[in-house]
Amino acid sequence: MPFVPMSELLAEAYAAGYAVPGFCVWCPEAMQTVLQVAREMRAPVILMNGPAEFPCLAPSTLAAAAHELIARYPAQAALHLDHGESLERVQQCLDAGYTSVMLDYSTRPLAENIAALREVCSLAHPLGVTVEGEIGVVGKVEASVVEGGEASALTDPAEAAEYVAATGVDALAVAIGNAHGQYARLPRLDFALLERLRQAVPVPLVLHGGSGTPDADLQRAIGLGIAKVNVATDLVAGVRESLLRQWQEGRNPWIPSAQAEAMAGMAGVVAGWIRRTGAAGRA
Ligand code: 13P
Repeated sequence: MPFVPMSELLAEAYAAGYAVPGFCVWCPEAMQTVLQVAREMRAPVILMNGPAEFPCLAPSTLAAAAHELIARYPAQAALHLDHGESLERVQQCLDAGYTSVMLDYSTRPLAENIAALREVCSLAHPLGVTVEGEIGVVGKVEASVVEGGEASALTDPAEAAEYVAATGVDALAVAIGNAHGQYARLPRLDFALLERLRQAVPVPLVLHGGSGTPDADLQRAIGLGIAKVNVATDLVAGVRESLLRQWQEGRNPWIPSAQAEAMAGMAGVVAGWIRRTGAAGRA
C-alpha cells in the first residue's frame, strides 16, 4: 500500500469533524511503531520528518525506510516534510517520494512567504503532492525544542485568506496561541480567532504544537476546523523518560532491548493521540 497525498486524509477529516494526527518520527523504529498502531486502530496517520529529525537520517534514507515499512504494515498514511526550511529541501523530499511537503517561511515577510509557497505548489501539485503553508508564527516554549523561534505571532484572518488564494496551498498551519514543546503553563488558544480563520479560508487548518494541549481545547479546536494535529514532544519525551528509567533501574544496558521497550511505551502515546483526535476507526 503506497502513501497517499495528505490532502486526501485531511479532506475526509475536515468534512467529518475529526483530525488526523501527524507524528514527528526520527527513525525507522518510530515509523514502524506509528504504522503498526494506526493499522491496529484503523486510523489515518501522517508520518512527519523535518529538520528536527534530519540530524539522525537524511530525508532520502527516512523516505526509503518509510516506503519499505508501509509495504509491510499497510495503513492509510501520508509521508510529510514538516517545517521544510528551503526550496532545496522541498525538492529533495519530492525526489525522495514524500506525499506532502511544508515550506515554513512563516517568519519571513508575507510577500516572500507567498512567492515561495506558490513556487512549492507549482513543483508539488503536478506530482499529486500536498502542500502545507503557515502564516503567523508558532513559537517554542522551551530551549530543548528544535522547531519554532522564541516568539509567536497570531495569524491574521485577512492575511490568511490572501495567502491561501495567492499560493494555492492545500492546508494552512495557524498560530492561535499554540506553541511547540512542553507547555510550562496551559496554552490559551484563541478560539474566536480560529473561528474567523475557518470562515476566511477554504482549506483544512493545522494545529502545530499538539503536545500538552488540554483535551477540552483539542476537541474545541477540531470542532472549529483543525483537521491535522502535529505531535513531537510527547513522543520524544516518552522515549527519553523510558530510557532514563530503564537505565536508572539498572535494566537493559543493551541499547536495542532498551529501545524496544521504549517503542512499546511510545505505541501507547500514539494510540492516545489517535483516540483524542477522533481518528480511530476512520481508515
Ligand atoms: P509539539 O512538539 O509541541 O508536539 O509540536 C510538534 C509540532 O508542531 C511539529 O511540527
